Amino acid sequence: MARLQGKQALIIGGAQGIGAATAELFAAEGADVVVADLKLDGAQAVSDRIKALGRKSDAVQIDVSNSESVTNALAEAGKILSDLSIFVNTAGIIGSVPAMLDMEEAEYDTVTNVNAKGMWLAMRAQARHLTNAKRPGSIVNIASIMGIIGQPGMTAYGTSKASVVSLSYNAALELGPQGVRVNSVLPGNVKTDMMRQVVPTDFEAVLVEQNPMRQLADPVDIAEACLWLCSDASRMVNGASIVVDGGVSNAWFV
Ligand SMILES: NC(=O)c1ccc[n+]([C@@H]2O[C@H](COP(=O)([O-])OP(=O)(O)OC[C@H]3O[C@@H](n4cnc5c(N)ncnc54)[C@H](O)[C@@H]3O)[C@@H](O)[C@H]2O)c1
Repeated sequence: MARLQGKQALIIGGAQGIGAATAELFAAEGADVVVADLKLDGAQAVSDRIKALGRKSDAVQIDVSNSESVTNALAEAGKILSDLSIFVNTAGIIGSVPAMLDMEEAEYDTVTNVNAKGMWLAMRAQARHLTNAKRPGSIVNIASIMGIIGQPGMTAYGTSKASVVSLSYNAALELGPQGVRVNSVLPGNVKTDMMRQVVPTDFEAVLVEQNPMRQLADPVDIAEACLWLCSDASRMVNGASIVVDGGVSNAWFV
């Protein structure tokens, strides 16, 4: 039995990586899916693959750090699929991960504007969409284990991801009474372009060795957690922070 049969979803940041894997898994599980991203071409390519599965889909451009863009994209998505009840927010950037002492104000602002403010703008628009329609739903926000543990270079990224965790459990309290669940997923290292941006190829083996599961996650591992959080199987899960990292964030390395 498909786990999202008859559901309609919007995946933001769906052009590649974790977002693309989530969009395609949700479609394989029966959902119609709007794929939104800053990169419209990439989102369109994912949407085309979803249509090939026999699901309804289209792509929408969005810049989550811009409130007007978020409002317009939500309106556009609502015209493509009129019964949206599932939202997954995966859009994010990591920046150049400088040491805190060397961080320029502009870079701190850029990372924060996309990852923290952008997450709030997207989630607010989605919550308004659902509550205006008096429709229950599920919102999943992708944070990171960097939001709950530290690592040199993670000043902007880590604090922005801590914001995502806090935004999610606070929104869960406010929206729960209206039937809207909000949860966050905290991945460890996932094999995507973002990870390759900050992890040198020859360091990947070290990360594999450090991980209790002796492997790094694939995007679909994160998508599976999102799927459960968006399915009725998790109907009492609200305000949770689900860590998907093979257990590495519990380790203490010396
Ligand atoms: N890959 C990892 O190891 C890892 C670990 C923990 C958390 N995460 C988080 O998972 C999420 C997805 O990351 P990924 O690894 O798939 O990265 P990715 O770089 O492959 O994909 C990120 C997507 O977000 C989009 N995006 C960036 N800025 C945007 C904006 N302003 N508006 C709309 N879309 C925008 C990009 O175009 C891209 O398609 C991110 O929030 C990231 O912080 C990733």
